[in-house]
Amino acid sequence: MPVTIVDRTRRVYDRLAGVYPMSTYFFHSRAHRRALEMSGIHDGMRVLEVATGSGEMFRRLVRHNRKGCTIGVDLSPNMAARTHRRIEKEFPGASTLCQAVDARHLPFRDGMFDAVFACYLLELLSCEDIQRTMSEIRRVLRDRGTLTLVLIGQNTKMFNRLYRIGGKVAPAFWGRQVETRVPEMIEAANMRISGEQVVYQTFYPSRVLTARK
Ligand SMILES: C[S@@+](CC[C@H](N)C(=O)[O-])C[C@H]1O[C@@H](n2cnc3c(N)ncnc32)[C@H](O)[C@@H]1O
Repeated sequence: MPVTIVDRTRRVYDRLAGVYPMSTYFFHSRAHRRALEMSGIHDGMRVLEVATGSGEMFRRLVRHNRKGCTIGVDLSPNMAARTHRRIEKEFPGASTLCQAVDARHLPFRDGMFDAVFACYLLELLSCEDIQRTMSEIRRVLRDRGTLTLVLIGQNTKMFNRLYRIGGKVAPAFWGRQVETRVPEMIEAANMRISGEQVVYQTFYPSRVLTARK
């Protein structure tokens, strides 16, 4: 079988599972916090996070949704296992689970979730896979359910230049910036944008977008 970019992405994130929390600490935690605030989720909901990575946002969601049910998925088995182990330890008895699943084929029934989160995932998917993933997310959301996305911002020239270099050197890890194209992809997936904000952490720009089914 040919090795695809998705296989390479799985492999690279599998290897980085142990050190990945540092990137949240330095670059992502502020956007995670803002995403939670903007999502409007409340305790007792059914929440899905797609692409949990090493689980920093996922832990935030479980903490916020103690009486609800919080499910996580990630392409990398090591990331998913790490996230699951930590959650079991920190939140014993919580209704939660994190599994290795490809976002392009979500193993959940239609309309099952009140809210879906995906932070820094779309950069790693081809345009076709973004469409497929958006359509899966829409399918598993209930009517009027909310999608919260965090994307890497494209509003800083120097950062964009560095990102392009990173993307050429290690495409399976960095992917490419897609922020400016995502709003139209959300609308093409038949969802309505309800909020957006740019967040900086040191020099790193993120854009938080919320949308409704
Ligand atoms: C840049 S990290 C972001 C992790 C986390 N969401 C965060 O905010 O720090 C991207 C994650 O997406 C996962 N990923 C990439 N492609 C995926 C796919 N097709 N399905 C599910 N997860 C995927 C990777 O394994 C990795 O853990």
